[in-house]
Amino acid sequence: MEQKEDKLKEVISHAKEYGFVFPSSEIYDGLAATYDYGQLGSELKNNIKSYWWKSMVQMHENIVGIDSAIFMHPTTWKASGHVDAFNDPLIDNKDSKKRYRADVLLEEHMEKMRLKIEKEVEKGVKRFGDDFDEHQFRATNPNVLRNAEKIKEIEDRMRTSLEANDLEGVYQLIMDCEIVCPVSGSRNWTEVRQFNLMFSTEIGSVSGDAATIYLRPETAQGIFVNFLNVQKSGRMKIPFGIAQIGKAFRNEIVARQFIFRMREFEQMEMQFFCRPGEEMKWYEYWKETRSKWHKALGLGDNQYRFHDHIKLAHYANAACDIEFNFPMGFKELEGIHSRTDFDLKQHELFSGKKLQYFDPELNQNYVPFVVETSVGLDRMFLAVLSASHKNEVLEDGSERTVLSIPPALAPYKAAVMPLTKKDGLPEKAREIIDGLKFDFLCQYDEKDSIGKRYRRQDAIGTPFSVTVDHETLENNTVTIRDRDTMEQVRVNIADLHRLIDDKVNMRTLLV
Ligand code: GAP
Repeated sequence: MEQKEDKLKEVISHAKEYGFVFPSSEIYDGLAATYDYGQLGSELKNNIKSYWWKSMVQMHENIVGIDSAIFMHPTTWKASGHVDAFNDPLIDNKDSKKRYRADVLLEEHMEKMRLKIEKEVEKGVKRFGDDFDEHQFRATNPNVLRNAEKIKEIEDRMRTSLEANDLEGVYQLIMDCEIVCPVSGSRNWTEVRQFNLMFSTEIGSVSGDAATIYLRPETAQGIFVNFLNVQKSGRMKIPFGIAQIGKAFRNEIVARQFIFRMREFEQMEMQFFCRPGEEMKWYEYWKETRSKWHKALGLGDNQYRFHDHIKLAHYANAACDIEFNFPMGFKELEGIHSRTDFDLKQHELFSGKKLQYFDPELNQNYVPFVVETSVGLDRMFLAVLSASHKNEVLEDGSERTVLSIPPALAPYKAAVMPLTKKDGLPEKAREIIDGLKFDFLCQYDEKDSIGKRYRRQDAIGTPFSVTVDHETLENNTVTIRDRDTMEQVRVNIADLHRLIDDKVNMRTLLV
């Protein structure tokens, strides 16, 4: 656990040191759970967006992209269910004045009990050595069994209370588990209340209910309300998809773990409209397609797993998460949801407008069903950054920190460096950049020894370092160093574009 926390801390500090992510408004001591992307972070983020957009919109002739407004008519959120049901149960500790999510307090309590079980198993391994039968131990050891039973009981009570919106029951469970506030150590809790996660503000100069609008908590509703606009203007035939990348806002009670859970974040969502009854086929199709998209990055197939939702949202008939092995363990990266015709039907009801499709093959009107894929851009960023961050000990005993970011996503594609600052080498280096810059973001670097410069490029994930030396002036060749293998080869300047392109082109991920 400690090692995992250390890894996250290391990634956070690396991200800040090299200009990937800064705490927001840091000169005023920052704002909780809000971050700014720096000069390299915004490049990486743009490249992730581009990978998603190309794979969704460019590679599917039946998917188009839109960019809808963050502000929407307030009735949108009444229709979608967010005004009434987008809540988290919260509880305050009266001594520390700290606020917690009641379900998270219970989850953490159960996690501690799971750790106790693992410790017990570890003790067994030590005691019995090679003769240890873990399966039997877990099935018979009284301490393990007692804790497992308690966990099950807490899980059941929590699920029943949450499903029935029984907040008194959740409070009682926290008291029965004797959960203390991690800050004050006391059990002096308030009652449990529901807390709506939407940020609201007022439009125009008049205050009051009529003028209250919300910052969208998901981009999806901008797609639903535009379903007919896009279908008609684009002459789209079912099945088809509408994709969107944009900001979403949630007043998370417990926002932490760096950019994993923020109050302002970005989503990349796609709603796939299909015939009623065909949604499970498309649900399976999108599960597989999205899983392939993630795995193509080469961060390790075993870093992903599917997690089916046990408790389905009111609008879904199937839902799962693609989880990633973040430094904090496996957590949700993307959601895939079969949302039925719930959203479109609700918008029909609240707007009084028909949101139906005439299917010429069936000669029939219907409200389409929807399968949604929704991935957090910031979580993708954290997945790429944390999986790429490595401390390596080299053959000669020296150490390096490298970001082995998939080359197509790397901020800079190549660094071009004159070996010395004189003899016309800088001019030659700039000439090379001029030839590459239309297709690749390049960095010019002439400061410090060449070894130090290579290390700097490793630390920001630049796939190639090109060095201009005196031989370059004689025969138009340069050395090109590969970030991952650290091998250097001498090549003609005329071949540089192709060599770089072969490795960094987004095509390498999309085919
Ligand atoms: N339209 C469906 C929807 O919004 P969700 O599971 O609530 O579903 C989708 O969110 C994705 O958005 C999540 O899988 C996660 O990657 C990202 N996400 C959600 N809340 C977030 C937060 N507070 N900070 C960062 N990313 C978040």
